[in-house]
Amino acid sequence: MAYRIDIISVQPKLMESPLNHSIVQRAKDKGILEIVLHDLKDYGLGKYRQVDDTVYGGGAGMVIRCEPVFDCVEKLQSERTYDDIIYMCPDGEVYNQATANQLSLKKNIIILCGHYKGIDQRIRDHLITKEISIGDYVLSGGELAAAILADSICRLIPGVISDEESALTDSFQDNMLAPPVYTRPAEYRGMKVPEVLQSGHFAKIEEWRDSEALKITKDRRPDLLEE
Ligand code: ADE
Repeated sequence: MAYRIDIISVQPKLMESPLNHSIVQRAKDKGILEIVLHDLKDYGLGKYRQVDDTVYGGGAGMVIRCEPVFDCVEKLQSERTYDDIIYMCPDGEVYNQATANQLSLKKNIIILCGHYKGIDQRIRDHLITKEISIGDYVLSGGELAAAILADSICRLIPGVISDEESALTDSFQDNMLAPPVYTRPAEYRGMKVPEVLQSGHFAKIEEWRDSEALKITKDRRPDLLEE
């Protein structure tokens, strides 16, 4: 059974390109991952498929209404069980590799993208199980953040990356940044590839990589070493 991600949004087209190329597309082609985009407007109210409304108490901007979101989520829940219903928002828990690892162990998740001024608080209180931010800045909507979530989860699902080692040696696994990498030629415009990498001495190469990773992490992200 494939890992299934349902994404609910008022702008689903925004995610088509990132989710239809590269490793994510390959995972879908292999049948390991299924991503289904849902247009919230299909669940909108009345002739104009209304999904949002003005803020109670006054104030600028529009808020996504309860009805379309509850209807869409409940329809999906009638078809299968979901491990998490995630809301992408700037005030959620800040996303990191540890959360990506946890989410990669689930089977079915729903991601709800916010838009406008946000969503009715009752959706957050009664439907959402996890709120995630991709960083301390505000996007126009949750779509790009949802695509980032899907991509980062996808590469951790067993069988997606052919050389499984490769996801395990990504930056942030073990709270370390990745060491530098080189390819041919061994010398370019006088710039040489470190000798040890050409030595064929596996233990020495590993030692060099560990020490470079530590150096870079100390220099750029000392906070990771304190965790
Ligand atoms: N929607 C708007 N800004 C966001 C952010 N930083 N992370 C996740 N979703 C968002």
